[in-house]
Amino acid sequence: MPDPLSTMLPARLPQPAVPRTYRWIAPCYDALARLVAARARQCGLAWLNPRDGEQLLEVAVGTGLSFQRLLCANPTGWTEGIDLSPAMLRQTRRRAARAGTDRYRLCRGTAYALAYPEATFDGVLNSYMFGLLPVADFAPVLHEFKRVLRPGGRLVLISMTHPERWYQHAWEALYRLHPALLGGCRGVQTAPFLRAAGFVDVQRRFVSQWAFPSEVVHGRKPTAASP
Ligand SMILES: C[S@@+](CC[C@H](N)C(=O)[O-])C[C@H]1O[C@@H](n2cnc3c(N)ncnc32)[C@H](O)[C@@H]1O
Repeated sequence: MPDPLSTMLPARLPQPAVPRTYRWIAPCYDALARLVAARARQCGLAWLNPRDGEQLLEVAVGTGLSFQRLLCANPTGWTEGIDLSPAMLRQTRRRAARAGTDRYRLCRGTAYALAYPEATFDGVLNSYMFGLLPVADFAPVLHEFKRVLRPGGRLVLISMTHPERWYQHAWEALYRLHPALLGGCRGVQTAPFLRAAGFVDVQRRFVSQWAFPSEVVHGRKPTAASP
């Protein structure tokens, strides 16, 4: 069986092109995301298990499909959200305004340099962003996530991943044809990178919806008492 890391396609949507590309994706994003990613998102949110009163961060909020759910679960805590694309952030702002709490902040920002002090958050969520990043950038971005998590804090990554069945290859074929058709997302595997970054309790689940292959990966920042 081929090594999944060596079969990862190269990232073909450069970071500076992300805001421009997502300007035209933003208005139609939700329909496709609901169709192919609702199940994985549900699983990721269940694994993150956000509780009221927590400090939470979502990196790459997109149109706010998860961010809205974080606000509902954490109405009296504090939830931060960032994204690189102003067009996607605008959609999240609209959604968040209907969540019934003002205990949140949304800013333009990048996963590569989080503007938060060390050990700020109980939980960090990130979905369908690693598929856009060059593999060489996985470690530094995970380092940032780990830095802002408190000891014991939870990280959940949801990503497009490698197909496990022949009929799941169609989506990556779209990416090969024109990366922007999939918002620059290709299949990745992140669990080995979480382990290498020093996260503990790393677990992975494969989820397929309309033959779109997703992975949900959970990890925890170790505490002083962790083995
Ligand atoms: C496929 S969308 C996923 C949106 C949302 N997380 C979801 O699950 O529906 C990818 C998102 O990642 C954002 N993004 C890409 N690179 C980023 C970076 N370095 N930092 C923050 N956001 C980034 C894009 O602007 C876009 O909103």
